[in-house]
Amino acid sequence: MNAVPSPSHFLRPAVEPLDRPAARADDATVEIEFRGVSKRFPTRRHPDAAPVVRDLTLKIRTGEVVSIIGPSGCGKSTLLNMGSGLYAPSEGEVFVGGQRVTGPVPKVAFMLQKDLLLPWRTIRRNVELGPEIAGLPAAERRERATQLLARCHLKGFEDHYPYQLSGGMRQRAALARTLAIDPQVLLFDEPFSALDAQTKMVLQQDLALMLHERGKTALFITHDLVEAAALSDRILVMSPRPGQIIEEIEVGLPYRERPLERRKLPEMGPLVGRLMDLLKVGQDESFH
Ligand SMILES: Nc1ncnc2c1ncn2[C@@H]1O[C@H](COP(=O)(O)OP(=O)(O)OP(=O)(O)O)[C@@H](O)[C@H]1O
Ligand SMILES: [Mg+2]
Repeated sequence: MNAVPSPSHFLRPAVEPLDRPAARADDATVEIEFRGVSKRFPTRRHPDAAPVVRDLTLKIRTGEVVSIIGPSGCGKSTLLNMGSGLYAPSEGEVFVGGQRVTGPVPKVAFMLQKDLLLPWRTIRRNVELGPEIAGLPAAERRERATQLLARCHLKGFEDHYPYQLSGGMRQRAALARTLAIDPQVLLFDEPFSALDAQTKMVLQQDLALMLHERGKTALFITHDLVEAAALSDRILVMSPRPGQIIEEIEVGLPYRERPLERRKLPEMGPLVGRLMDLLKVGQDESFH
């Protein structure tokens, strides 16, 4: 039997007033910042090489998940490499956690399309590698690896070697290895692009939940527009080379921690359509 709403129910405003004003970008902690960053790759023959990315300025807040989309060759991986300190900007500055980046940053972890697992180590020993380098005692790093592998649905496979696993399982192991060093910032360069559609969706779900539970900050590069919309708080769209940010989209949809649910929302179609238009997918001047 349906309960009859009390009169006060109808008096309540449709949108409850907030106790405090919503946090603005400037109020929150900025975890990653690019200030006027350009990157060139000069050679002896081409000392005046044109920039690959030009005048990039962006801020990513602590706990935010931001995707970057853009045509092939526009400088997305270059941007990520500068975020991790592997490449130095030619102009401008990069900051992570308020510190200017001048070399590899310990609190940043990278995950790539290729799993890069060491073939001569078991999955568990691959996951233990980062904590081992960091000097964590053996018992502690074993415990951490066991927990993370279970969390990544690899319980029972700890003593397998990478060649004994499927592509999806290897990417799960790579994710466990990335998380094992407990980084505050995670940089993902098309980590799921080699996987089949269903494996990819399940892995996205696991990743999103773990990022949410641990409050991690993530920068995610993908060519998959639905993936960008399903996983992110914000999407940055880059122009063809020299790459610049031409659009910034606040996704504004619920279920960031459950992309399988977000995918089913009716708002997803129009959002992905807008991203397709921005990238001119299927148009004559499409640069894919
Ligand atoms: N180490 C390097 N030395 C010289 N040129 C480089 C180097 N790294 C990248 N580039 C050049 O910079 C440009 C952008 O490369 P980048 O890999 O960042 O593109 P991308 O947006 O990630 O492309 P894709 O979507 O295909 O992965 C390319 O023209 C590439 O040749
Ligand atoms: Mg790339």
